[in-house]
Amino acid sequence: MKQQLKCLAGSVLHHLAPNLSREVDEGCIDGPQGKLKRLIVDYRTSRAAASGDANSLRKQLAHYWKSARGDEFYDAYPERFEKWFLGDHYPVVEALADQLKKRPEIHRLIEVGCGDGKVLQHLSDRFRQFNTAIGIDLNSNIIERNREVYDDTSLQFESADLHEFLQSYLGSGILLVSYGGVLEYLTQTELEDLFASFKNLASPVMLMLVEPIALNFDLAQETQSRPHGIENSFSHPHRHLLEAAGWTIQFEEVQELEHRWMLMIASA
Ligand SMILES: C[S@@+](CC[C@H](N)C(=O)[O-])C[C@H]1O[C@@H](n2cnc3c(N)ncnc32)[C@H](O)[C@@H]1O
Repeated sequence: MKQQLKCLAGSVLHHLAPNLSREVDEGCIDGPQGKLKRLIVDYRTSRAAASGDANSLRKQLAHYWKSARGDEFYDAYPERFEKWFLGDHYPVVEALADQLKKRPEIHRLIEVGCGDGKVLQHLSDRFRQFNTAIGIDLNSNIIERNREVYDDTSLQFESADLHEFLQSYLGSGILLVSYGGVLEYLTQTELEDLFASFKNLASPVMLMLVEPIALNFDLAQETQSRPHGIENSFSHPHRHLLEAAGWTIQFEEVQELEHRWMLMIASA
């Protein structure tokens, strides 16, 4: 009920407050009247998910991560790294160790949606074959914070949209990592584009992903990405999209914890 009222308020503001609506269009969500602007974002997100407008949904999800609400995420779930990454999800890192042994030519590490940088730091410390480690995130505040926290390391951090960044990144021998739910904020078309262009431009290349998928997503049958969960982020058919782009799946595991997770390693 509370959610419906918020959605109704967002709809009213979207239609009757053109100044606020314009600011949201421009990605200016915080500051004065931030609460009202967030209602508009939430309304537009639900509307885009309900109507199947993937591009509009993608835009609202990016607005969310660039805003102060995105900032709150990094300190709100301190157990993520220890409990999930070093705990339940760690089999994917052990599988990565086996794969990297066979591919010494993989020497650059790029983590997209790196958040607080803990995963990037761990992978860079554990696998000495990387001579470069870059973390990319849409949220400029966490990137600024990472630059201070990791000042005495060789880790690099860039504030960018991962799709744009990877389109212009030149270099080969890359391990691309997406951990804890990042590709879920990209549309299927963007992901297809990314898998195809990255394979062609950066080969040899590997990908390690740990991404949420909808509980009722049929991994054997479904080939189309669709919004799921309270965020309305995209549940993707990762295997299908990677294989269609010519990648080989080296490791795959599905885990059902608080969320349903896809753990995957692919190479090209
Ligand atoms: C669920 S958080 C995961 C953060 C981190 N990987 C972790 O597990 O703690 C998603 C992260 O992806 C980032 N993100 C979302 N869309 C992005 C995009 N298009 N380009 C770059 N980063 C993005 C967000 O800013 C956020 O830091």
